[in-house]
Amino acid sequence: MASSAGRWWAPGRVNLIGEHTDYNDGFVLPLALPLGVTCTAAARPDGAVRVRSHQAPRDELAEIATTTAVLATGGWSELPAWTHYPLGVIREFERRGHEIPGVDLDLDATVPIGAGLSSSAALSCAVAIAVRDLFAPSVSDAEIIDIARTAENVYAGVPTGLLDQSAAMLCTAGHLLFLDTRTGRAEQIPFDLDAFGLSLLVLDTGSPHQLVDGAYADRRAECAAAAAPLGVPYLRDITLAAEADRLADPVLRRRARHVITENARVLRIAEQLRTGADPREIGPELTASHASLRDDFEVSAPPLDLAVTASLASGAHGARMTGGGFGGSIIALVDRDRTATVLRAVREAFAAKGFDAPRDFTVAPSAGAHRLD
Ligand code: GLA
Repeated sequence: MASSAGRWWAPGRVNLIGEHTDYNDGFVLPLALPLGVTCTAAARPDGAVRVRSHQAPRDELAEIATTTAVLATGGWSELPAWTHYPLGVIREFERRGHEIPGVDLDLDATVPIGAGLSSSAALSCAVAIAVRDLFAPSVSDAEIIDIARTAENVYAGVPTGLLDQSAAMLCTAGHLLFLDTRTGRAEQIPFDLDAFGLSLLVLDTGSPHQLVDGAYADRRAECAAAAAPLGVPYLRDITLAAEADRLADPVLRRRARHVITENARVLRIAEQLRTGADPREIGPELTASHASLRDDFEVSAPPLDLAVTASLASGAHGARMTGGGFGGSIIALVDRDRTATVLRAVREAFAAKGFDAPRDFTVAPSAGAHRLD
């Protein structure tokens, strides 16, 4: 055993661009937030797993016994949904042959929950690196990504790709993570907005982002249904948007067009930023991504559209929803000295429609998951 107690951290993320491409074997370009989840963990010898969350103080889950016992007695579905992530991680370590003698997990989140900023991957990854350091030090980062994703897919029942867990584990301060989800090739691209007098504004619209209800799974199925008649294993294998026109079904045509054009946008932005372009130049690609998610992929929502429109009308260089959609957050690329103007415009637009004011923060690319002490 490497050590018996400590604190671990994993961040939430925003995806600059590359939305709904990960489960199509495509490209993503996230950055880690300075907001995330801290997991304070300590080994215990008695086989019990105790999880507590400061965000769910009434769920004081003492002495759950081992996760295996919980599953065997059918108690899993009766546990609060958030516990499926940490317990799923432990269960997955056990399934892969690692012995977990027992552990106390105390969780505290600064990343907003349900805002499309990957609070669940931050939770899973913080727990996974804690469990690794305490009980299974040979486990690689790639395997941690897989364990955290399995916790989400199998134990929490949300069929996500690996964008969020990869961002939590692989992002580094000051950089975007350019990830080819097919090959796993990761590249750190410098993203110094400050040097260009820019800010990346995140606006959490407060409209619930809920992936468990089936719409996300429907999109996955539609993408698979579009790839088959086009004769490719994944939509990633198509680079010409006109190819989508070969699909007879208009819905599948639109879904495919989004994925094909989105992958192309990621590649173009990665190339622009790699060669040191002024990030203002990527603004129109961000806005085009939003239109594609709204019109072709149909995963936006009125508050997201309104936040994007109001940001652009008040001077943002580009704006788009980020994450899975159906609610959640947008990002807007703005001149630093215009941030207050853009915020005021969005708040006014929200008030005029009777929406609650969005929560806002500006973010710089931050560090990935690591041990704190
Ligand atoms: C959610 C999922 C990710 C990804 C995004 C959309 O965040 O967890 O795997 O599919 O939606 O890009």
